[in-house]
Amino acid sequence: MYPTGAQWSEMCGITGYTGSKDAVGIVIEALKRLEYRGYDSAGVAVVGKSLSVFKDQGQIAQLERILPETHGGTAIGHTRWATHGRPSKENAHPFLDCKGQVALAHNGIIENFYSLREQLRQEGHTFASETDSEVAVHLVEKFYKGNLEDAVREAIKHIQGTYAFVIVHSGEPGKIVAARNFSPMVIGLGSGENLLASDISAILKHTDKVIYLRDREMAVVTPNAVRITDFEGNEIRHEPQTIMWSMEDAERGGFEHFMIKEIFEQPEAIHQTLLGRFDESDIDRLLSQNLTSIKIVACGTSYHAALAGKYILEELGRVPVTAELASEYRYSRGGMDRPLVILISQSGETADTLAAAREAKKRGCPTLAVTNYVGSSLTREADFTFYTRAGLEIGVAATKTFLTQLVAMYLIGMKLGLQRNALTPTQADGLLNELRALPRVVQSVLDRAEAVRKLAAKYAAADNVFYIGRYVNYPIALEGALKLKEISYVHAEGYPGGELKHGPLAVISEKTPIVAIAVRDHTYEKMLSNIGEVNARGGPVIGIGMDDDSDLGKYVDDIILVPTVRPLLSPVPIVVALQLLAYHVAKARGCAIDKPRNLAKTVTVE
Ligand code: M6R
Repeated sequence: MYPTGAQWSEMCGITGYTGSKDAVGIVIEALKRLEYRGYDSAGVAVVGKSLSVFKDQGQIAQLERILPETHGGTAIGHTRWATHGRPSKENAHPFLDCKGQVALAHNGIIENFYSLREQLRQEGHTFASETDSEVAVHLVEKFYKGNLEDAVREAIKHIQGTYAFVIVHSGEPGKIVAARNFSPMVIGLGSGENLLASDISAILKHTDKVIYLRDREMAVVTPNAVRITDFEGNEIRHEPQTIMWSMEDAERGGFEHFMIKEIFEQPEAIHQTLLGRFDESDIDRLLSQNLTSIKIVACGTSYHAALAGKYILEELGRVPVTAELASEYRYSRGGMDRPLVILISQSGETADTLAAAREAKKRGCPTLAVTNYVGSSLTREADFTFYTRAGLEIGVAATKTFLTQLVAMYLIGMKLGLQRNALTPTQADGLLNELRALPRVVQSVLDRAEAVRKLAAKYAAADNVFYIGRYVNYPIALEGALKLKEISYVHAEGYPGGELKHGPLAVISEKTPIVAIAVRDHTYEKMLSNIGEVNARGGPVIGIGMDDDSDLGKYVDDIILVPTVRPLLSPVPIVVALQLLAYHVAKARGCAIDKPRNLAKTVTVE
């Protein structure tokens, strides 16, 4: 029931066309279909009698205004979701080499770009942007000896990271060379024309015959031929597939809603957040200051990441941490201390969080933004920024951005722990390895989605649902309840398990299901007691635990198990199960999942 192969998508959209039709027009149209992947800047390179590049900050419509009329030829295009370098015309793709002969568009992240750029600069190359991607075009220039394919093959030997490239050379018109490592790339097969794109929605209008390029493969695409090789140059044959999707299906990667697509993108989102983040020297400097306390401030789902961050940073960094809602912090009086204030916001534009950042500065506190949007207002307000790199999130309900905010908390906690000698380097290495395994852990929860759907169908008619958790899973109970209420309109409340008897038990009955998160940490026995309190009032309990727990099933009516990880990391797989539960309840109730009533993706008003 869930499409396969579509989950490994990420930020930025790239495309290319070679044939006898209007290459620029086709590329622009394809970019519009890819705009959901990013839209802070866009560009096109066209090879006719010469090579020309047109690009600008803003949406595709902006770019269209500066494009000349062209007919026929070969073109590549890019719509950007900034990861390195702010959104600007200079940082827009495609990039040109020093001689203006090679143009390249990239989707992914080049991890070793600092060292490559330094080396290329020493060799005399000049750079026009702040991006990681530009090093790739200079590498191709460096190795070009009359054959683009050979130059690309040599260049990618030096590149570490994730990429899908489309590359053209003024001396080889009619040819696009593509390479893929971990970032999506599909080739559309036409008659006397061929196309490339990050996903099929961009090219489906022109052809339904496609070949998916796989990791560590290259393609040389001309109007009448597509030749695929591995990175070593060995030829590879892939049978073309016929795509049955409608255009709309294709944009959502075959998923019914953006929310479920984004839930399935989480393994990749975590992977992107972890890439190279351990060497972030700015943040190291910030955390090495003599911190006496930390305050984490945010709204909505981001506040739940903040609250989870409190437990994570306290456990790993042994530093006092408080979490506060931005709308409360900005109007509080403030104490005498000067904590490090961490502001979490996926959009970086939430009005209350921006106001809280200004308030923190006014109080003389150092500030760190954790956001998903490069160049957002929050990054300009804060002293330092940690980017979560989840990729563009379209569904109003935050999913992959929340998970990557949690990962940010683990990474910051680990750095703190090392700085404050709360963690030994060996312990930090162990934790890092467990973080690196999280994409697989999350994938395994996604593989169990069908079981969660069945459970959702059983409880979809309930009008009130309570979620309980303790310690680091208390914020996850809050997040599970928020997900359910915002997309299914079911009244849902999250509570710390210990608070049940201080009020909520009064409304528990056989009509009030309780979702109880129970992991085998120091709170496990207490959670079992809370479950017992609910059982005594006839409330049905859905237990959420980990695979190594053979006891939980005895105390609950239904159970969802997720892969076992150390308890501090358990929010990651558990919240994915809760997202799936909320999604399927909302679907069973026929709700407008991607655009829930009364809500906006970004709240820019108080
Ligand atoms: O962009 P932000 O992270 O600052 O947004 C904060 C909240 O508006 C947001 O998390 C909201 O609660 C989501 N719709 C929850 O899914």
